[in-house]
Amino acid sequence: MRILIHDNKENMSKWVAHYIARQIKKAKPTVDKPFILGLPTGSSPIGTYKELVKLYKEGKISFKNVVTFNMDEYVGIAEDHPQSYHYFMWDNLFDHVDIPKENVNILNGNAVDLEEECSLFEEKIKIYGGIDLFLGGIGPDGHIAFNEPGSSLSSRTRIKTLTYDTVLANARFFDNDVNKVPKIALTVGVGTVMDSKKVIILINGYNKSRAAQKVIEEGVNHMWTVSMLQLHPKGIIVCDDEATMELKVGTVKYFKDIEKESLSKLPGLN
Ligand code: GLP
Repeated sequence: MRILIHDNKENMSKWVAHYIARQIKKAKPTVDKPFILGLPTGSSPIGTYKELVKLYKEGKISFKNVVTFNMDEYVGIAEDHPQSYHYFMWDNLFDHVDIPKENVNILNGNAVDLEEECSLFEEKIKIYGGIDLFLGGIGPDGHIAFNEPGSSLSSRTRIKTLTYDTVLANARFFDNDVNKVPKIALTVGVGTVMDSKKVIILINGYNKSRAAQKVIEEGVNHMWTVSMLQLHPKGIIVCDDEATMELKVGTVKYFKDIEKESLSKLPGLN
């Protein structure tokens, strides 16, 4: 697993956007063979989405032949609710780039049959031949998507009840009122993410440093589901300095040293 530690969130976001753009360009996607991109919501990817929009506006990247699958969605809030993940994705990314609407896949948290919705999502990913690159964030409790502590590390897309920790963390988006936060969500599984050809996880901010320590320095553990990345052949964690506060000095120095070349420049787009 590669660990790239950037000085700050801005550099982290920029680097990840260029990395994604490079992967898309390298794949030379077409209508028949699109690039399949998995995407998260949350505050962590906002800077990366801003930079991707900038790259698109500068003519450096196109999303015409990109198909996206989002990680998760709340159950029971309208798609046009400002805190729905549908709204978030259109607001922060899709409305500002040239992605065709039919290429966007986000779980429908209002489907009549939620279980069927989840299995159709898995089926669709399979039809496309799997996800080329999955971008993810991490919860303060080490979760990926909504795979809360104790989730099966081979789980697939399904319905999940959110932990109090997550409800509390997400209350900031719902007028700081835990009662307004949905308690159930649809989420891809840890196994769904791990089946992707490449996985890149963003970890930034001091409030994620405990989770970063668990997933980087300790073993694979269902209580910190991002730790499963250790078993992925192409897993990358990209973080900012603040997120490394609980890591050993030696761990930080080691990864900064072996990645110093990659950290010194942005992934080239040509
Ligand atoms: C939610 C999402 C996760 C996300 C996490 C962290 O739980 N389901 O996909 O990684 O929040 O969000 P933030 O980046 O805002 O800290």
